[in-house]
Amino acid sequence: MPEVEGDLKEIQTLRDTVTVGIDDMAVYVPKLFISTTGEFATSRGIEPAKLMKGIGVEKMSIPDAHEDAATMAASAVLELMKRSDILPKDIGKIYLGTESAVDEAKAMGTYVIGMLEKVYGRGSFEECSTVEFKSACIGASYALESIAEWVGSGARSGSEPAPGAADGQGDDRIGIVIASDVARYELESSGEYTQGAGSVAMLVKKEPRMVALDGAIGSFTRDENDFFRPIGKRVAVVNGKHSNSCYLSAVGGAFASFKRRAQKVGLLNPNNLNISQGESILDRLSYILFHIPYPRMTEYAALSLFRQEWKNLPRWKDVTAEIGPEPSQEMFSSPEDYGKVDAAYNKKFSKSRAFNETFMSKVEPTTFLSRQVGNIYTGSMYLGLASLAEQGLLHAGDKVCFCSYGSGCSALVFSGTIQEGFKSLTPGNVQKKLDARKELSLKDYEDLHEGRKSGSILPPSGEFALMGIDSQGYRLYDYVS
Ligand code: HMG
Repeated sequence: MPEVEGDLKEIQTLRDTVTVGIDDMAVYVPKLFISTTGEFATSRGIEPAKLMKGIGVEKMSIPDAHEDAATMAASAVLELMKRSDILPKDIGKIYLGTESAVDEAKAMGTYVIGMLEKVYGRGSFEECSTVEFKSACIGASYALESIAEWVGSGARSGSEPAPGAADGQGDDRIGIVIASDVARYELESSGEYTQGAGSVAMLVKKEPRMVALDGAIGSFTRDENDFFRPIGKRVAVVNGKHSNSCYLSAVGGAFASFKRRAQKVGLLNPNNLNISQGESILDRLSYILFHIPYPRMTEYAALSLFRQEWKNLPRWKDVTAEIGPEPSQEMFSSPEDYGKVDAAYNKKFSKSRAFNETFMSKVEPTTFLSRQVGNIYTGSMYLGLASLAEQGLLHAGDKVCFCSYGSGCSALVFSGTIQEGFKSLTPGNVQKKLDARKELSLKDYEDLHEGRKSGSILPPSGEFALMGIDSQGYRLYDYVS
């Protein structure tokens, strides 16, 4: 027992002395989009109000014929490197979260490095390692966990960088996490209006300017068939309603695990989150970043998590005074009957004062960009962070909580603190890119979706492009100036 206490003290001391996290981020979105209202809604026989309010998506980003998850990833990294003045020799690892693999064996990161070397010179990334993390929408979070651990262990070992140059391997280890995906479902299916495409690249280093990770990570994993894409299929198989409920139970489970682990490493202590009797960890969080397959899902997630976290606190009395007591499962003979009554109670809770105030201040602003981009799978939660930055809502000292979910299924919950250096970053450029996009006709959208378009809608210019696929299936990319 004394040994465990000693270990925990050591972890705490290290945490107090070494901060590791996201230093800067860049977002890439394709230049094409389809509006969910107008032609799309009419052709599918759906009321636009359902898509705008019930789902929360106004526009979905659609990749052009020369784009895929690899070109989007390379574009995001190029912007990040240029903005943060990082050279290839500074980067020790590029870990890529994706479920839109372009090859069954070759790591997408090697294609990305090939593209970046068209700009930085052949061999410039030779010492950089790369690997692909596949775990549906949670892949990039596992990549972040891994790179942050590697950066932290370098900083703690105090090892020297190579003489004369930072080589990404010494005590100043620098890594990049990329989240890159194309979310695609069958045409005319109920998943179709939750599509999108985009990439987020994040620079991970010690003493980060943007978000320092607090250190505790809660996790949850269970074998589920909520959403998957068998080998060879271009679109995902999805059991829609089941996927929503897997998401809710996994995030709830990972949050409970996060609380236990946060307690162990002292994150709830007065010098950290400072949770006292009768309070919830949620009270100390400025923002809760959920995975955003579609913005409305964040409301379902918040309803479920707030109920879970509040129902044993004194404040639940005020909630029940307003909307009545929660139904108890034991009172129902079938899970279906209980489910119906519980869903009705959830609706009432969604209208309660306490829920609305907390949801509108801590969650709703995180969906700002997703409403205009759609689901970008593993990058969606990080797009939520970009949404806050874009609207100027982040301030030094703010605590943000990441609730990452991936179908199949797995969830990770961790927190971070916004840093002073964040003020020196200029992340407010995503909206400009979104405003400059071209709206697709329904026909062009469907042709792109089905791979029927051989030429690009907007010929590539100043960007990476897929130029062709050779007779062996090898993909040929270039930077088109
Ligand atoms: P649906 O059949 O469109 O759902 O499927 P719905 O009919 O229940 O409608 C949704 C809401 O719109 C409801 O609100 C309706 O009432 C409302 P609620 O009753 O719940 O409050 N509505 C309207 N609102 C205003 N005006 C109207 C109107 N009409 C109806 N006129 C579903 C929705 C998300 C299931 C479907 O689109 C789908 O299957 N999408 C793909 C799967 C998905 O996104 N799942 C999310 C959880 S799993 C996940 O996040 C992982 C994932 O990202 C993949 C990965 O991990 O890699 C998907």
